[in-house]
Amino acid sequence: MPKLAKATDARPGAHLPAGMVRVWDPVVRLFHWSLVVSVAIAWFSANHNEALHTRAGYVAAGLIAVRLIWGLIGSRYARLSTWVRGPRAVLRYLRDILTGTEARFLGHNPAGGAMILALMTVVAALGLTGWMMFTPTWYGVDWVTHLHGLIADVLAVLVMGHLAGVALASLRHRENLVVAMLTGKKRASGPDDPAL
Ligand code: HEM
Ligand code: HEM
Repeated sequence: MPKLAKATDARPGAHLPAGMVRVWDPVVRLFHWSLVVSVAIAWFSANHNEALHTRAGYVAAGLIAVRLIWGLIGSRYARLSTWVRGPRAVLRYLRDILTGTEARFLGHNPAGGAMILALMTVVAALGLTGWMMFTPTWYGVDWVTHLHGLIADVLAVLVMGHLAGVALASLRHRENLVVAMLTGKKRASGPDDPAL
């Protein structure tokens, strides 16, 4: 049916290199790299520039809110329903990693999804505890300040785990996930990949 073929060619995906598919939409990519920049600014300004620190921290927390909404209405792989898995699926995937049998996912794999949820929760908690420090109730209250610093340390550890996970998955499945998060494109699913 030549007519149908033509209509398919006109789709944005038609200009993709052979064997490649679009996975990360522009909102996801923009969100990710803006989050990296804002968290880095908040981190490195923490002890010298309060105005910059609080602004960057609020931007990071705001990005999480936007991403959660996009997780409900965004494109297929942006949607939380495609990558938020229960603890069993996450544990099974971690076990598969240990035995070297973990499947390749086009979207986030179950372990990556759990890490992403943790990263987003921790950034949101930094926004909340940071905000608390400027309210009359919690201003100058030691435990809030300590908690904020502690959560920031947890974030640093999680980011290292995130980078290790990205590196491991890139090596295991012979694809550069960082480039994919920049371009949005990935190699199409193979016969052994799960349906997602
Ligand atoms: C402050 C540091 C970082 C934070 C808080 C962070 C957070 C996140 C989040 C929330 C996602 C999910 C994206 C989405 O679905 O919207 C993600 C995915 C991803 N991040 Fe990061 N990230 C950080 C640093 C980095 C860095 C430095 C790199 C690479 C050099 C990186 C590479 C990736 C990749 C490749 C993915 C997609 C993983 C996959 O294919 O499943 N991240 N990150
Ligand atoms: C991604 C977001 C954020 C990160 C990574 C972050 C990280 C940090 C770190 C590492 C410190 C130093 C803690 C210490 O020296 O023990 C700090 C201190 C502080 N942060 Fe944040 N923060 C974030 C968001 C915010 C926000 C949104 C606010 C307020 C609106 C805020 C307000 C403060 C204040 C007032 C301090 C100084 C506390 C003190 O020592 O008196 N932060 N933050």
